[in-house]
Amino acid sequence: MNSIYRNTYSEINLKNIYKNYLSVKKCINTKNIIPVVKANAYGHGVIDVVRYLLSKNIDYYAVSTLEEAIELRKEFDKIDILVMGIVQRKYFEIAAKSNFVITISNFDQIADLALLKTTLKVHLKVDSGMNRLGFKKDKDILNIFDILSSNSMIIIEGIYTHFSTADNNYDYYKYQLRRFEQVLKMIPYNFDMVHASNSSSSIKYEQEIPFTTHVRLGISLYGLTLDSDTKFLENTYKLITHVSEIKHLDIGDKVGYGATYTAKQKEIIGVLPIGYADGFIRKNRDGDVEINGKRYQIIGTICMDQMFIKIDDNISKKDDVILFGGLISIDEVATRLDTINYEIICQITYRVPKIYSK
Ligand SMILES: Cc1ncc(COP(=O)(O)O)c(C=O)c1O
Repeated sequence: MNSIYRNTYSEINLKNIYKNYLSVKKCINTKNIIPVVKANAYGHGVIDVVRYLLSKNIDYYAVSTLEEAIELRKEFDKIDILVMGIVQRKYFEIAAKSNFVITISNFDQIADLALLKTTLKVHLKVDSGMNRLGFKKDKDILNIFDILSSNSMIIIEGIYTHFSTADNNYDYYKYQLRRFEQVLKMIPYNFDMVHASNSSSSIKYEQEIPFTTHVRLGISLYGLTLDSDTKFLENTYKLITHVSEIKHLDIGDKVGYGATYTAKQKEIIGVLPIGYADGFIRKNRDGDVEINGKRYQIIGTICMDQMFIKIDDNISKKDDVILFGGLISIDEVATRLDTINYEIICQITYRVPKIYSK
């Protein structure tokens, strides 16, 4: 646990992450879950999350960048780490020596592959319709497979694709699934790992897919999805602060930068030691926070390090102020900010220390 000197912190519930893992596991039969722990485990703190999941014997993880993989490897020498983003050819030797599994997504990555000195595990990425990463055309897929399979330094461990609409467009999801199935039928090889589903499709459709072995689970581990029928997931992230200063306003008193709030009557306000440099961005103004199970309104302009709320006589500096993760859900904040829940948990910055409950 980090030291907390200003009473502003994130409370991360590791037990609930594991509970969510087990809940989704029930939706996917006997298949295996690869926890997606990119972006600092969606803001939850990757080292603590992986350490906890590893204690439950979960030992295969996915990240996005080589930097993320290296950070994990420094702490955990035994786990498998799939890098889902592009790793350039010039870094293959680093990846191989660290025993990473890298994603092969385009032909530039495999130039001069003959010069590779260390064996490297790879997964082949198929673009089944998202037009982001991966090989799209049959001839390219067959060609890359031939190149990889004829190189003795390359171990082809897996193949995968990614869905772009599992949460909101079943027909397009189905189209991508069929395309991936076609590709698998076309390649004369038995992959150890075949994976496609993210959280949404794991929960809703994975049971119907006969040809995959794994799913890649991100947001649902952290208690969220973009679907409305996933209430069985448990919350894992609370953002908490306290009132650090109490001000009694007279009628006409103005608050904060730009004097954007004016008291219409005698009012009490609380100053909170958290601001946009902590990732609680200015657009949150006019939203609510929770104190003692009740809503209190954010007022004025959110500063870099502080913000203001309207309070009453019942509130003291000892009370927890919950910005989200309780009565105010992460989804509510996402709606307030016109974005998705993923962004809310990822945008809290390094400056907010984390407390872990197990
Ligand atoms: C390639 C890939 N796989 C899996 C995931 C996990 O998706 P989700 O967080 O929706 O479960 C992501 C997340 O964006 C991803 O980019």
